[in-house]
Amino acid sequence: MAKITYIEHSNKKHVIEVSNGLSVMEGAVQNDIPGIDADCGGSMACATCHVYVEEKWFNKIEKKGEGEEDMLDMAYEPKKFSRLSCQISVTDELNGLVVRMPKKQA
Ligand code: FES
Repeated sequence: MAKITYIEHSNKKHVIEVSNGLSVMEGAVQNDIPGIDADCGGSMACATCHVYVEEKWFNKIEKKGEGEEDMLDMAYEPKKFSRLSCQISVTDELNGLVVRMPKKQA
C-alpha cells in the first residue's frame, strides 16, 4: 500500500492510498481522479496516462520497459521525468510518490 499524491494541472491535489500490485494509473482511475484517462486500459498504446514523476522519486521507480519510451515520444510535452503511469507498479517503497498531470490532460 502506498499513499500517492496526484496533482492536476490546475494544482488540485488528490492523495490516495493505492494497493500494491495496482498501477499508478489504476489507482487514479479507480478513484475517479481527473487527468488520467487511460484510454487503452494500460496496454501502452495511448499515452493518456502520462505523468511527470516528482524528481526525487524518479530513480526509485522501476525503469522504463521496452516501448514506453516510444510511446512517451508521442505523448503531449514529454519531459525528463515523464512516465506512463500504467507502467508503474505500486509497492510499499512508493509510499509518498508524487505525480503531476500534463496540461493537456486537464
Ligand atoms: S493507459 Fe494507455 S498508455 Fe497507459
